[in-house]
Amino acid sequence: MPPTLKTTLTFSEKKALDPQQLLRLFQQAPWAKGRTLDEAREMLRHTDLALCAWDGEQLVGFGRVLTDFVYRATIWDVIVDQAYQKQGIGRALLTECESRLTTPRVRLCVRTDNGGAIRLYEQVGYERIDVWRGYYKDKADAIIMEKARNHGGTSQLHGG
Ligand SMILES: CC(C)(COP(=O)(O)OP(=O)(O)OC[C@H]1O[C@@H](n2cnc3c(N)ncnc32)[C@H](O)[C@@H]1OP(=O)(O)O)[C@@H](O)C(=O)NCCC(=O)NCCS
Repeated sequence: MPPTLKTTLTFSEKKALDPQQLLRLFQQAPWAKGRTLDEAREMLRHTDLALCAWDGEQLVGFGRVLTDFVYRATIWDVIVDQAYQKQGIGRALLTECESRLTTPRVRLCVRTDNGGAIRLYEQVGYERIDVWRGYYKDKADAIIMEKARNHGGTSQLHGG
């Protein structure tokens, strides 16, 4: 861990993030490697919540949420710079995303072979609710996970 990390690490919501910084992170994940600058810029423009973790000026973590702020919320693209992993940043990004949500539950999906991420999600309260066979480009399966947030009416918890 860089010696200054604990004092300089900050989290912010930033849709106007420089997409070049995001691509540097995306290069590190097989599922995001092929993404282009234009795609990342456009994706950020249409994303409801974009959460960033910074070490000073350097983007070291990212996660985003697509939501209607009433019924539905899904977290996507959680990623932490390899040099900064296993220091609690992924967990903190999830907390930052969830703290801005007003829906009674939140969902995300993860590859069945991504043991580290599955462990993280289970640790912070996500439960497996389904498996989508062949969901990813390379036909790998996705585990769909959900977390109830003790927020809002219970009728929404059982909607379609
Ligand atoms: C998954 C990822 C975001 C985790 O970020 P992180 O900052 O390293 O995670 P944290 O330090 O907050 O870890 C919290 C918990 O998750 C689990 N965990 C995280 N990474 C793990 C790994 N590689 N192996 C096993 N468990 C892991 C641990 O239980 C850990 O708790 P502990 O430290 O008390 O044991 C990060 O590994 C990453 O960016 N991976 C590549 C991108 C990716 O696959 N994202 C998920 C898309 S669905």
